[in-house]
Amino acid sequence: MSTHEPGADLDPGMTGFDLVREGARRDGVEIVHYAPKFPVPGTRRERRIERTIASMFLLAGAAATAFVVIYIVLPVGYSPGYNSHKWMTPLLGLTLGLTLLGIGMAIITWQKKLFPDEIAVQSRHDQIPNEAERTLTGATMLNMVEELGIKRRPLLRRAALAGLAPVGILAAAPIIGGLLKDPHHPDILFHTGFAGATKDNPIRLVRDDGSPIRPEEVSVGGQMTAYPGIPDGSSVKYADSSALLIRLRADDALTLQVNLHSRGNEGRMAGDLVAYSKICTHAGCPASLYEQQTNRLLCPCHQSQFLITNNAEPIFGPATRKLPMLPISVDDEGYVVAVSDYTEPVGPGFWERP
Ligand code: FES
Repeated sequence: MSTHEPGADLDPGMTGFDLVREGARRDGVEIVHYAPKFPVPGTRRERRIERTIASMFLLAGAAATAFVVIYIVLPVGYSPGYNSHKWMTPLLGLTLGLTLLGIGMAIITWQKKLFPDEIAVQSRHDQIPNEAERTLTGATMLNMVEELGIKRRPLLRRAALAGLAPVGILAAAPIIGGLLKDPHHPDILFHTGFAGATKDNPIRLVRDDGSPIRPEEVSVGGQMTAYPGIPDGSSVKYADSSALLIRLRADDALTLQVNLHSRGNEGRMAGDLVAYSKICTHAGCPASLYEQQTNRLLCPCHQSQFLITNNAEPIFGPATRKLPMLPISVDDEGYVVAVSDYTEPVGPGFWERP
């Protein structure tokens, strides 16, 4: 029985480029022209181009760092007493634009000025790969690093790392910045504008103009978007707080009450009124299309449906978690109030606990 070592039919003295050419040839690709931009490495012109590309990467890194700093340091629009917030969005746009421009220009310049000129012709056909071809393909991948000149261009390697690393931090800026902006509420990720509401100290549900809501103002089978009746309650500062106040038909309300009772959650409705978070638990869109005949609440983004009479459990679509309920009641003056914050964190299923 004969053994066949990978690459046994290849000359051990072949260079990286020889392997690439051979691999391409066996794949039916003939490299008919190959000319490095700089046959003699390290010329002044090559180094000048490298410095130009490096400066583009570093510009991208500096802009990405500035984006993160601006996001964290500048107050947002709802902070009273500040006026610099008006520059926040333009500055974020400018720094993000410079970041993407720097990376894009660096890659294009690298490709145009340093990549070798190459013409390859390929004949298309079916082929079952064997060991030698796998070796050649691997060599091709490794040689790409050489082709890009990454190994022998430490300046570009370091500049690319320095430029791209802050771009990764961009993704974490909103969550880190959000926490740093509101140090008095470190639990901001788990509570909404209804935080602190109790039976003795309820918070009214209000419209976006701040006016309180009476139960009879929501028609049977109808709905209304409500916000916490606190300063800036309907502003972007409490964007995660909005509730959908729904007035169920009498028999549907009874079904929900029985469901809540069976789970030990009675006392969360105000007569036929029920309130759920309006933030879809899939990806955070406003779930607000209420279909009163079937008692389904539809999220228009990806068609998740929640059954209102069954604790807003998802019954269709990608959402896997029910909409958090906002326990409500009616105060002495006849207005709808929240007697607690939402019963669990609002928003996408990321927050779901085991
Ligand atoms: S965000 Fe609601 S279904 Fe995707």
